[in-house]
Amino acid sequence: MDIKLQDEILKRRTFAIISHPDAGKTTITEKLLYFGGAIRDAGTVKGKKSGKFATSDWMEIEKQRGISVTSSVMQFDYNNCRINILDTPGHQDFSEDTYRTLMAVDSAVMIVDAAKGIEAQTLKLFKVCRMRGIPIFTFINKLDRQGKEPLALMEELEEVLGIQSYAMNWPIGMGKEFLGIYDRFHGRIEQFRTEESERFLPIDEDGELAVDHSMKATSYYTEAMEDIMLLNEAGNDFDEKKVLSGDLTPVFFGSALTNFGVQTFLETYLQFAPTPQPRMTEKEEEINPLNEDFSGFIFKIQANMNPAHRDRIAFVRIVSGRFDRGMTVTLARTGKTYKVTQSTQFLADDRETVETAVAGDIIGLYDVGNYQIGDTVVGGKKAFTYEKLPQFTPELFVKVTAKNVLKSKHFHKGIQQLVQEGAIQYYKTLHTEEIILGAVGQLQFEVFEHRMNNEYNVEVRMEPIGSKVARWIENEEEVKESMTGPRSMLVKDRYDKYVFLFENEFATRWFQDKYDHIKLYNLL
Ligand code: G4P
Repeated sequence: MDIKLQDEILKRRTFAIISHPDAGKTTITEKLLYFGGAIRDAGTVKGKKSGKFATSDWMEIEKQRGISVTSSVMQFDYNNCRINILDTPGHQDFSEDTYRTLMAVDSAVMIVDAAKGIEAQTLKLFKVCRMRGIPIFTFINKLDRQGKEPLALMEELEEVLGIQSYAMNWPIGMGKEFLGIYDRFHGRIEQFRTEESERFLPIDEDGELAVDHSMKATSYYTEAMEDIMLLNEAGNDFDEKKVLSGDLTPVFFGSALTNFGVQTFLETYLQFAPTPQPRMTEKEEEINPLNEDFSGFIFKIQANMNPAHRDRIAFVRIVSGRFDRGMTVTLARTGKTYKVTQSTQFLADDRETVETAVAGDIIGLYDVGNYQIGDTVVGGKKAFTYEKLPQFTPELFVKVTAKNVLKSKHFHKGIQQLVQEGAIQYYKTLHTEEIILGAVGQLQFEVFEHRMNNEYNVEVRMEPIGSKVARWIENEEEVKESMTGPRSMLVKDRYDKYVFLFENEFATRWFQDKYDHIKLYNLL
């Protein structure tokens, strides 16, 4: 292979930040972009959201709610690495897209608020990363405020998440008394709020502060030293192999807002973060990123950036080789070939036409309706298909009908396309064939309603039926309709497979006890 191309690929680090809303994802992203020189002022990412596409209908929802529907991609260079950060929308805009984004990264950075510990959304996203076996790096944020005890946080990580942890550094004090971090990995102390020349203090062979410093006389220093001794004796050892297999998470303490510990985190992260990883095809053949032929898969489709053109952008994670604008690619599902002249890349402060991109990068291809989520595109002669993206178990459900029955043709067409696109999941009741939609996050319903209205000209009536526990059935032939009751519903999914929708976990267990021969399972 072309050495230059190989070097380019090996420079890539592609990751997502997983966290619960308000843990500090935006703040840390800004600092990272700032270090990478991609933005001049830390503090410009948030303001951008109302920027460029403010006139489009798509962004109406964003504007109304003051949130970002787009999970964008940000790229910057640091220490001879090219870093791609994929945003994972959270809170009300949490959706299947958020999960699918995690299919396109090689590692994840988990941000935890020191005062809150592991929160619900972090846990959900963590599970998806864990299932993929990708490395997870933890940043415990907001040390400039009083939070939980560091040892308790470490324990929580291991207990709630079931992952081993290794503290790369350890806080000395916290909140108003935050003095700095003891950097176990680099063997130094990093001082909080100090002159750059005094930022690092050396430690001696015994692990003690090696210079005369007022910090030494504080109880915070003594406590930190006691904790570190405990970690040295009873904690896990640092093990790079375990980090790379996702079995051990390196933990960093810091404060994103005050930009403390972020740069050290970035540098250490880059030292261990994986380069672009191979991916399996449907036939279980492994495609190496250094393979010369371009290939990639679509993990997200964003529609109607500009309603005047009805355009969509398909986000492609490049798995192997190099993409050049103007090249011909084959869409594996249909065998059709396209010359790609319109492609885009996502930078922190703008979106620009991309001429070339390599394995590890994300590009956006303009789409007029040819692509679907999960599609494989290849540049070489031999078309193949990457393994399927997983489907995720929806938690929220609504019954949906067209307000005007005369519009039923448009209604069904719209639903079919939006389901195919992966915007929403489709179910129907058994005899009455009422349509039920399932989603991972509420926003998916809002986007659905908005798009049905704007793109298919159909007003829909949505009747929430609340959150349900959806379970598929391994031995479908054993299922009988009489098994349903007031706390469960039997429906079919878009592939005509039976699905039970239980009222809650309790109803699920009750069912399982009563019909123990029925083998239930959930998607991810
Ligand atoms: P998110 O993207 O994960 O949702 O979190 P974001 O970065 O927006 O941070 C949420 C809030 O937490 C923000 O405050 C932010 O300033 C604050 N924050 C982030 N990192 C730290 C930290 O290290 N220390 C402290 N003390 N606070 C931190 P806000 O008041 O909700 O928003 P804003 O008005 O400052 O934008």
